[in-house]
Amino acid sequence: TGPDTFSPTGQPTGAPQDAVAQGGAFLTSAQGVRLPDTDHSLKAGPRGPVLLQDFHLREKIMHFDHERIPERVVHARGSAAHGVFRSYGTAANITKAAFLAEGVETPVFVRFSTVLGSRGSADTVRDTRGFATKFYTTEGVYDLVGNNIPVFFIQDGIKFPDVIHAGKPHPDREIPQAQSAHDTFWDFVSLHTEATHHTLWNMSDRGIPRSYRMMEGFGVHTFRLVNAAGETTLVKFHWKPKLGVHSLTWEEAQIINGVDPDYHRRDLADAIEAGAYPQWELGVQTFPDTPDQMFEGIDLLDPTKIVPEELAPVQPIGLMELNRNPSNFFAETEQVAFHAGHLVPGIDVTDDPLLAARLFSYLDTQLTRLGGPNFPQIPINRPHAPVNDMLRDGFHQDAVHRGVAPYRPNSLDGGCPFQAGAGEGGYVEVPVEVAGRKVREAPASYADHFSQPRLFWRSMSPVEKEHIIDAYTFELGKCYEQAVKERQLRVLANIDPVLCHEVAQGLGLPAPEPSEPLADPAPSPALS
Ligand code: HEM
Repeated sequence: TGPDTFSPTGQPTGAPQDAVAQGGAFLTSAQGVRLPDTDHSLKAGPRGPVLLQDFHLREKIMHFDHERIPERVVHARGSAAHGVFRSYGTAANITKAAFLAEGVETPVFVRFSTVLGSRGSADTVRDTRGFATKFYTTEGVYDLVGNNIPVFFIQDGIKFPDVIHAGKPHPDREIPQAQSAHDTFWDFVSLHTEATHHTLWNMSDRGIPRSYRMMEGFGVHTFRLVNAAGETTLVKFHWKPKLGVHSLTWEEAQIINGVDPDYHRRDLADAIEAGAYPQWELGVQTFPDTPDQMFEGIDLLDPTKIVPEELAPVQPIGLMELNRNPSNFFAETEQVAFHAGHLVPGIDVTDDPLLAARLFSYLDTQLTRLGGPNFPQIPINRPHAPVNDMLRDGFHQDAVHRGVAPYRPNSLDGGCPFQAGAGEGGYVEVPVEVAGRKVREAPASYADHFSQPRLFWRSMSPVEKEHIIDAYTFELGKCYEQAVKERQLRVLANIDPVLCHEVAQGLGLPAPEPSEPLADPAPSPALS
């Protein structure tokens, strides 16, 4: 496809993001009128009052006054890069997605982020990191909007505003900015014990990555792939960094926060500029699409659970390389709009209730953040595939639509494109059976909040355990409320007695007993 196929303005330029690039030898107004002076307002005499008729002053100040847009409600702090994804073709038997066929190369744009801090916050805080990838495929945009931690705090999206309210700065003093060291966070996670697994990953070294280039990424939810024969497979997506997974020590992170709050942002941009292009392998864990959507006793629809790689190895399906820095932060990194519902034929969602809320949330928030319904026309968001929709008008409409009949079928604008070849290549949802009573309740399988945190804790080396203990002790030590600390210690007692005892000692509080039997009768060895 030529660039004008996907550039509604029809500008004869190269890459779509260049479509609105500026040129010309002279400074002009936004209307293209040449300006000889931009340093002096129009006045009645050199010392006289400024005249209302000064169109240049008015335009310049008006535009400046509106330069800021709302930051993302979460993941406000981020940085991004362009690159390419090359498919190995190893997933071609389980998905018909064209970009996953053998040898296909697809342009990508990846944005890494922290979750809780505001746009100007420091990079090396203890937090989850976003890892969002936009694939500009020939079949339209596919977004894999993941995190660097494979599980999430909550099992149902209806709690998302609650967990974010708890994690964001306190409404009274607007502190702390981007750390989990406060009462509301610990209040929430100790009252909603489904958050235990994600919180434990946050308190581990995974919570302070050394570099975006050294982070894993996870799709978290289980997705459903479908091949050309209509056969389905359940999968979890994984990004594995070629540089390996590395973290900062807590002490390093503290110093860097002061010395270079842009550390991760700078590291990514410098590496790409120097030609040290970071790479990740994309892989999938695959599971049979059984009616109960369970695997080895693990509920695949529960986003607080992983499937251990010993049970389902990650199979590589392609390689991503980031090789170009954005040329304008606002135009690209800030205006990019990811959405877990941007899917292409061959990739479908499951009934994970966290995913369901996301499918609603991203479009909704971007409508506000990006000023109306036409943000898919912003150059960084444009598909690299022909767009032929019936969406019309609205704020910031860039397209000059032809024809008179934006409805289908019609007999005025050349008939109905949906009749010929409708089933071929189009996005058709997998026709899964849906039945059930309307209820507000969770399945019994969602009640297990501790077996996987125990698994995670027991998989840690002694030094990693020390780091986790130090992290809980530091973060909980910042709480003012004694009752919150005590309740969180009761949560830790259900993970491991040594973990609970050591943190309790650090806080100067008694260590409580577990409220449920620990699955592993042998507690982890005491730390030496
Ligand atoms: C960003 C909502 C769960 C990954 C966002 C944004 C919202 C949001 C409103 C800001 C988007 C924007 O302004 O453009 C939600 C809701 C969730 C949820 C309602 C649960 C119900 C998750 C989960 C993940 C995730 C489970 C990871 C698997 C991300 C990432 C971004 C993001 C990576 C940043 C995208 C970017 O870089 O622009 N989310 N989120 N979110 N979310 Fe979620």
